[in-house]
Amino acid sequence: MALLEMKNIHKSFDGMEVLKGISISVDKGEILSIIGRSGSGKSTLLRCATNLEKVDNGEILYDGRKLSKDTSCFGLVFQSFNLFPHMSVLQNIMDAPVRVQKRKKDEVKKEAMELLEKMGLADRADAYPCQLSGGQSQRVAIARALALNPEILFFDEPTSALDPELTGEVLKVIKSLADLHIAMVIVTHEMAFAHDISDHVIFMENGVIAASGTPEEIFSSDNERMKSFLGRYGM
Ligand SMILES: Nc1ncnc2c1ncn2[C@@H]1O[C@H](COP(=O)(O)OP(=O)(O)OP(=O)(O)O)[C@@H](O)[C@H]1O
Ligand SMILES: [Mg+2]
Repeated sequence: MALLEMKNIHKSFDGMEVLKGISISVDKGEILSIIGRSGSGKSTLLRCATNLEKVDNGEILYDGRKLSKDTSCFGLVFQSFNLFPHMSVLQNIMDAPVRVQKRKKDEVKKEAMELLEKMGLADRADAYPCQLSGGQSQRVAIARALALNPEILFFDEPTSALDPELTGEVLKVIKSLADLHIAMVIVTHEMAFAHDISDHVIFMENGVIAASGTPEEIFSSDNERMKSFLGRYGM
């Protein structure tokens, strides 16, 4: 059974249909990248998958169960890091496991420190978000999502607010997560990265999936619109 199944998802804003019957399926440990032009509906699809938007029509299943407010097997990392500014790095990571999941502080702290270690940020545990670089902030945001032990992580353009050097540092961390066999759905404009990391790629256009396949199939596609899109990235 697929870990995530989205079936025939429709979503409109103010009478404008943004998702026009999208279906995707993600298996345990699978990495799916979503590419496509601005406004094609990529973020909306992630927001629907993670319960930040309600779909108008269609079905979302995690492990065969309907998405509900109690579904807790996913994490989400945004383009802008959305850290709590008044909390230290460590507090940012510990907050949800302690407050929402009601887990023991000692145990959560130990795990949080291990995560920071993995992200190369052990020495920044007591820093505040305003004292971090963009790349460090994004790595904290990833650690915060991982602290909830998700089976699937969604990334919405995780590097688009970063300069090229910091982008590399964050992409490296995301690649390292692939070894943990956490499923990932990644909206990205980093085409070489999507090519390298993905098991599957979908190309969205005007609220539909215009192409779908392995990275090899997508990045060597004969489809003219696909080629014109990839051409902008020098692919
Ligand atoms: N809350 C909202 N209210 C009204 N319209 C919205 C809302 N969210 C998204 N839209 C519209 O839906 C369309 C798709 O937006 P979405 O953010 O999903 O695109 P995207 O593919 O993520 O684009 P980008 O690459 O620029 O992030 C756009 O036309 C956008 O203006
Ligand atoms: Mg977007």
